[in-house]
Amino acid sequence: MRILLYLGKGGVGKTTTAAATALRCAQMGYRTLVVSTDIAHSLADSLDRPLKNEPTEIADNLFAQEINVLDEVRKNWGALQGYMGKILRKQGMSKPVAEEMAIIPGMEEIFSLIQIYRNAATREFDRVIVDAAPTGESMRLLAMPESFQWYVERFFGWGETAMRLTGGLLRRLMPEQDALAGLPKLVDDVKELQEVLSDPQTTSYRVVVNPEKMVIKEGARAVTYLSLYGCPVDAVVVNRILPGVRAHGSDGGAADDEGGRRAGEAAVFAPSSDPYLRQLQEQQARYLAEIERDFYPLPILYSGWRSEEVVGFGPLRSLADELYGQRDPGEVMFVGQAQEIEEQGNDFVLKLPLPHIELDKIRLTKRGDELFISIGNFKREFLLPAVLAQRDASGAVFAGGILSIRFPCSSQ
Ligand SMILES: Nc1ncnc2c1ncn2[C@@H]1O[C@H](COP(=O)(O)OP(=O)(O)O)[C@@H](O)[C@H]1O
Ligand SMILES: [Mg+2]
Repeated sequence: MRILLYLGKGGVGKTTTAAATALRCAQMGYRTLVVSTDIAHSLADSLDRPLKNEPTEIADNLFAQEINVLDEVRKNWGALQGYMGKILRKQGMSKPVAEEMAIIPGMEEIFSLIQIYRNAATREFDRVIVDAAPTGESMRLLAMPESFQWYVERFFGWGETAMRLTGGLLRRLMPEQDALAGLPKLVDDVKELQEVLSDPQTTSYRVVVNPEKMVIKEGARAVTYLSLYGCPVDAVVVNRILPGVRAHGSDGGAADDEGGRRAGEAAVFAPSSDPYLRQLQEQQARYLAEIERDFYPLPILYSGWRSEEVVGFGPLRSLADELYGQRDPGEVMFVGQAQEIEEQGNDFVLKLPLPHIELDKIRLTKRGDELFISIGNFKREFLLPAVLAQRDASGAVFAGGILSIRFPCSSQ
């Protein structure tokens, strides 16, 4: 089974890309499920088919489903949430706050993913395409098989202490035995899910961006955290590229009138006569080049800005053709980590592969969680995970295509 998760900032084209990818997979003969966990259901709009909470067959080999996240929470967490909520209320919290607090951040998505995985396994899907992938919070829960268990034990350990303190009345109020009965099963499910979602042979995360500043930043942040938690990111999708703009990779590296462009370079090859559009083209070309540098060495898939919304099978299929060409969307597009953090004594060393560049003086500038790297003419922005943003960088070495940046322990 292959699980492909498409993530990125709202509006970039995640749902569209997921739907197009699913259509292509089904067309290739794979039994495919495309699922959305977005509360604002748009998969049905994109596919132009009504969908339900259960997988519905909408074409040969193609099933689609819109999961009701709130239902999943209620089903899996309802009893436990009630139990915790009562304890918290007993401590003086108001009811709405207590019930809100009783949800572990990120749980909603995890319940949905467990449901997706269960469905995929029992109904024997070859391909599962997920629209609205896990956020940072749920990634944290999934990062270690033990973290969820640790969380839950602390949570309920605390609950038991509170029970002892508040005594008999509360005990009578709560059927705590029933509430806690499902807990070990849940812990096992999360463990299994974690294994599946971090196995690069099974799962690939793909970050969808547009050639726009804030969107690129959010995408870069996603790659940073996914890498930190060991989630296999294997490609970047750049959607909504204006006509007349071309990146190095978008023509498959074929020679063109510009000639000699390398990764990290993009150009406007057909400038618009409209000065407004022309300016947008130039801006996109700059950001396209930035995307190639900032996401290196991840492969990049490109799709253009259509004059009409991409809705229904026809337009989605044509978008898939543009994105994947002859490729199978289910192939593992990149093996390895796009970035790594190594522990060396008390220091952390960030290891970033960089394209072939002339060795020159390396300059590092840090601003908040942004790290600006410049080596000669080469410039790259990097979004640091919080663990590195808290420290200062002490120096960098570029060798064997890898830039190693040292972050010494800040406490001495
Ligand atoms: N390449 C494109 N050209 C034109 N419209 C697009 C393109 N990609 C997406 N859209 C449209 O943009 C809107 C947002 O896309 P969607 O896939 O729902 O984004 P997300 O799921 O990331 O929020 C939709 O109306 C969709 O049809
Ligand atoms: Mg969407």
